[in-house]
Amino acid sequence: MTEIKTELLKNTMSKVYWHQKWVDTYINSSKEIYDLAFDKIRKIILSSDKNLILDAGCGNGVNTIRLLNRGFDVVSIDFSEEALKLCKKNLMENKLLEMARVEKADLLNLDFDDRTFDSVLCWGVLMHIHEIELALNNLCRVIKLGGFLIICEVSQNAIDTFIGKTINRITKTAPIQVKKAKFGIENWYDTGAGSILVRKTNIKVLKEYVKSSGFDFIGAFPGQFTQSYTRIKNQTLKKIVLGYNKFWFKYIGIVNPSVEQVLIFKKNDDYQKN
Ligand SMILES: C[S@@+](CC[C@H](N)C(=O)[O-])C[C@H]1O[C@@H](n2cnc3c(N)ncnc32)[C@H](O)[C@@H]1O
Repeated sequence: MTEIKTELLKNTMSKVYWHQKWVDTYINSSKEIYDLAFDKIRKIILSSDKNLILDAGCGNGVNTIRLLNRGFDVVSIDFSEEALKLCKKNLMENKLLEMARVEKADLLNLDFDDRTFDSVLCWGVLMHIHEIELALNNLCRVIKLGGFLIICEVSQNAIDTFIGKTINRITKTAPIQVKKAKFGIENWYDTGAGSILVRKTNIKVLKEYVKSSGFDFIGAFPGQFTQSYTRIKNQTLKKIVLGYNKFWFKYIGIVNPSVEQVLIFKKNDDYQKN
């Protein structure tokens, strides 16, 4: 069953439609917040001699570009050929293609040696992976001692998640399957280009899992407070919600009620292979 679900996801994410939808829906509307988020990440993790980072599940490479522009050496991986094509195109348009190593790789079967990277970034990716523990184990393994793991996921306890459930009920856009699992609420949607898993993560469980793998939790900050703008057609209302997200990020910064949460961990000496 697990293998079937993993194959379904691989198939959906092999299609360009899905990647374009992600860029149009989330990436383009919140550029400023994400630029500020990456400034924060840089401040916390960049040091002069430790800057090799893996962008795990790079998609169209928007975060690869942010990392390169902030002085990191980047290896970008994705298992989707279409994502890699978009990533290379994006890098080329930004005259950065020579700067990054872009490779096809599956987080469920990572070939890199143990302790290859100073840091790993996994932004908006684990939520789409059914075998999340295997992916996390692989990511933890390839980080050097003292290196960082940065994860961005959506929270099952965010205010947005509760509002979203109500809107789903009213607009009848509910997922085709909902399951409560160890790492959160697993929502399966039919995208029109195949099934996709979107996990609303139990952040507490995720944190405990990474900590028990031999990492210290360094801190967290919010990404977008709400993603409700994705359902709003009225442009003025949409702008107001996006403005509120910016305000929340810049001036409020409380993590727990926010839908997107950025978590930073540091590998310690207790790291054991799982
Ligand atoms: C929602 S997109 C996020 C892309 C990028 N991190 C960003 O924030 O724009 C998720 C990406 O993870 C990739 N992905 C999902 N499962 C993966 C896996 N098992 N191995 C490698 N890449 C994977 C998908 O192909 C997709 O490009």
